[in-house]
Amino acid sequence: MKPSVLVTREIFEEVLAHLRGRCEVEDNQSDRPLPGPELIERLSEKDGALVTVADRIDRSLLGFCPRLRAISTVAVGYDNIDVAACTARGIVVTNTPGVLTETTADHAWALLMAAARRIAHADRWVRSGQWSGWRFKDWLGLDIHGTTLGVIGMGRIGQAVAKRSRGFEMRVLYHNRNRLAPEIEAACNAEPASKDELLRNSDFIVLTLPHTPQTHHLIGAPELALMKPTSLVVNIGRGGVVDDVALVEALAEGRIAAAGLDVFEDEPTLESGFLSLPNVVLTPHIGSASHATRHKMAMMAAENLVAALSGGRPPNPVNPEVLQGR
Ligand code: DGY
Repeated sequence: MKPSVLVTREIFEEVLAHLRGRCEVEDNQSDRPLPGPELIERLSEKDGALVTVADRIDRSLLGFCPRLRAISTVAVGYDNIDVAACTARGIVVTNTPGVLTETTADHAWALLMAAARRIAHADRWVRSGQWSGWRFKDWLGLDIHGTTLGVIGMGRIGQAVAKRSRGFEMRVLYHNRNRLAPEIEAACNAEPASKDELLRNSDFIVLTLPHTPQTHHLIGAPELALMKPTSLVVNIGRGGVVDDVALVEALAEGRIAAAGLDVFEDEPTLESGFLSLPNVVLTPHIGSASHATRHKMAMMAAENLVAALSGGRPPNPVNPEVLQGR
């Protein structure tokens, strides 16, 4: 008998076809987010689930899903899943690392450049019909070339962000749990720094961290106070790493110059102060959203799910200890 799986959101047809060949699939092509009780109801008799960052898989939900053996998320980040609770129940959790690294690093730079050169604000202004003539002193922004980039979180995505700075002839500081090997530092042209050192000396600060108890509000009022008034912060990791209330205040009071944000503490609900600030560029958690990358992520997630449910070793387990003996 084929295992039964739930696909919680709309995904590409070829990926559904791949799954349908191997599993009994219930999908959600309406793409409506499934509220908690409905997610429980739909998952209660399933063997596996293909989920997204927008689905919360917590301990209480798992209690209603006794058959669940595998959860495959179409994302590299998995802070929406209680992995410890899954492990305790023998449920394999898988993710999609690697395939989205370069695309997400591209988006970090898109935000950085858009915020530095006021692209989104200028675009809104032109469209509003206010452009009545060219002015020498209008729309002055920040230079990127020759400045200092600070990367907090120097995993795959952080390194890809750092490497892209070469063309801008920037100095690169990084702060990470562990110091990188010398050859990786050289490839990224990056020097290690303490968090405070990085905050004090960087012109552009890019955050690529997951949200964990250790990274919660890693950037709050005290950290924003260390940053230069001309500095800019970009977050493409996870909401909750930044204290959004403190960031709104710092941006509103000009204590830092600008921000480019793809992730938020309580997304899709935004700290309302962001909406009226001209010096912040906001995108709706689309770091990995290129055509090619989203296709790769979805197929990778499907392959992980099928492998986990067939009793094999899925290529990308987050909790490999569950697989002992496979
Ligand atoms: C990830 O992969 O974690 C992204 O945030 C979702 O695309």
